[in-house]
Amino acid sequence: MAKNIVMLCLVALTLCHLTFAFEPKPLQDFCVADLTSPARVNGFACKNPMLVQANDFFFSGLNIAGNTSNPVGSKVTPVTVAQLPGLNTLGIAMARVDYEPWGVNPPHVHPRASEIFTVLEGSLLAGFVTSNPENRLITKVLHKGDAFVFPMGLVHFQRNIGYGKAVAIAALSSQNPGIITIANTVFGSNPSIAVEVLAKAFQVDKNIVDQLQSKF
Ligand code: GLV
Ligand code: MN
Repeated sequence: MAKNIVMLCLVALTLCHLTFAFEPKPLQDFCVADLTSPARVNGFACKNPMLVQANDFFFSGLNIAGNTSNPVGSKVTPVTVAQLPGLNTLGIAMARVDYEPWGVNPPHVHPRASEIFTVLEGSLLAGFVTSNPENRLITKVLHKGDAFVFPMGLVHFQRNIGYGKAVAIAALSSQNPGIITIANTVFGSNPSIAVEVLAKAFQVDKNIVDQLQSKF
């Protein structure tokens, strides 16, 4: 009897995990985000379907290169529910990524999405790191037309390894994938994480932490 109850609990826990690990299926044709609604829901409240227009499902500008004049030499142009309200409840988003020669899209995580990534122009080194305790680095050189997957929640990055510009398109399994850029988050939090914490965590002198914090 006790064994059966334990089994039942395990099945229930597994089902809960499956239910909450992904965005729910839509319960109607669409639920265009009303970005101005004061309603607090998971995602955004639906705009009145009678007022929905083609433009609610439309985004223009992915043909335009992002400005890569910044310290990392890359730029992400997101198309999430914030830019395209018709994505609300659909569990997908996309982004264009531009890289100057040797530019890096720095190590980051999407807390709510896996990513499939394809190169339109140039050559990139793409990689991700598995979780503890292995922390295995998995990398691949990608050329035009190649696709690569970054599994949900894993730290990943790309580097332009060519002498020309590179361009990629990312598709993500959330309307709001989120981006946690490791360096900004750890060394540029507001307020800052105490130097003592970071010095111990990264096993370096406090002056190195100061130097890193001054950059983010
Ligand atoms: C690339 O990894 C991106 O998230 O844009
Ligand atoms: Mn990414």
